[in-house]
Amino acid sequence: MTAKTIVVGNFKGGVGKTKVSVMTSWEYANVHNKKVLLVDMDPQGNASTLIARSAGITEINKTIFDGFQEGNLENVILNVNENLDLIPAAVSFKNFSKFLYQNFKTDLEQITLLKKLLDPLKEHYDYIFIDVPPTISDYSDNAMMASDYVLIILQAQELSLEGAETYVSYLQFMHDEYEAEIQVLGVLPVLLRAGGRVDQTTVERATELFGEDNVFSNVIKHLERLKAWDVTGIKNIDHHDRKAHQTFLDVVNEMEEKLARFEEEESNV
Ligand SMILES: Nc1ncnc2c1ncn2[C@@H]1O[C@H](COP(=O)(O)OP(=O)(O)OP(=O)(O)O)[C@@H](O)[C@H]1O
Ligand SMILES: [Mg+2]
Repeated sequence: MTAKTIVVGNFKGGVGKTKVSVMTSWEYANVHNKKVLLVDMDPQGNASTLIARSAGITEINKTIFDGFQEGNLENVILNVNENLDLIPAAVSFKNFSKFLYQNFKTDLEQITLLKKLLDPLKEHYDYIFIDVPPTISDYSDNAMMASDYVLIILQAQELSLEGAETYVSYLQFMHDEYEAEIQVLGVLPVLLRAGGRVDQTTVERATELFGEDNVFSNVIKHLERLKAWDVTGIKNIDHHDRKAHQTFLDVVNEMEEKLARFEEEESNV
């Protein structure tokens, strides 16, 4: 088993990155019975909070920054349930850049630390998801260098590809500068606004930019229940819960198809 590592990206705040990385991890682990590791690379720790709340975890002793400082992430893995593990983050992680500059000389060493520490863990998982902050930073650089794929979030109602477009230039830059080898797994339209609808022009432009095969046919609609889960934790009690889960299960299924296609292409090379 070697984990496929996927970062959920978009350089804009509050577009649903964390929700998508948490929920896809959750469905893969709890419904598809895959071994999943969710890595929280955001000092805000939103993914960690949501997972902890959902699993009734009240205390987090060690976080990702301890792992970086100790040069080993294995000891900071939090077992959430049978198939899901979490490497949690907390505000102390804000000193990541300072730590990198003080301890590593070259750019390349600084941005490949996560990769170096994550590689030995890959044999234990089917999937590793990485949640990142909405900034071009040491967090996102490390996540990108450690990942095989990026799932790009598209704000489907904003009449703009801002955020997703920036991501493409950044991918190109990282490839030219550091030979980053990361593939676009797909572009997932997300609707955060109530009453919003998928803007066809935006989706068409995304299709031109990323290629027809790369834009997900599933869309994450605006679901009040997803917001409620921020407070209650992830639930599965009534039909609103089931509808929210189904939304992400559909995405996971489409993701599986896309991954299978990539593997097939690779084996044909
Ligand atoms: N499909 C959705 N429908 C309704 N609300 C949503 C949906 N997805 C996310 N939200 C809510 O929108 C807010 C932002 O979502 P989220 O934290 O996932 O975004 P983000 O891109 O990770 O933000 P940041 O850039 O701060 O990391 C949260 O309150 C979340 O519950
Ligand atoms: Mg987030």
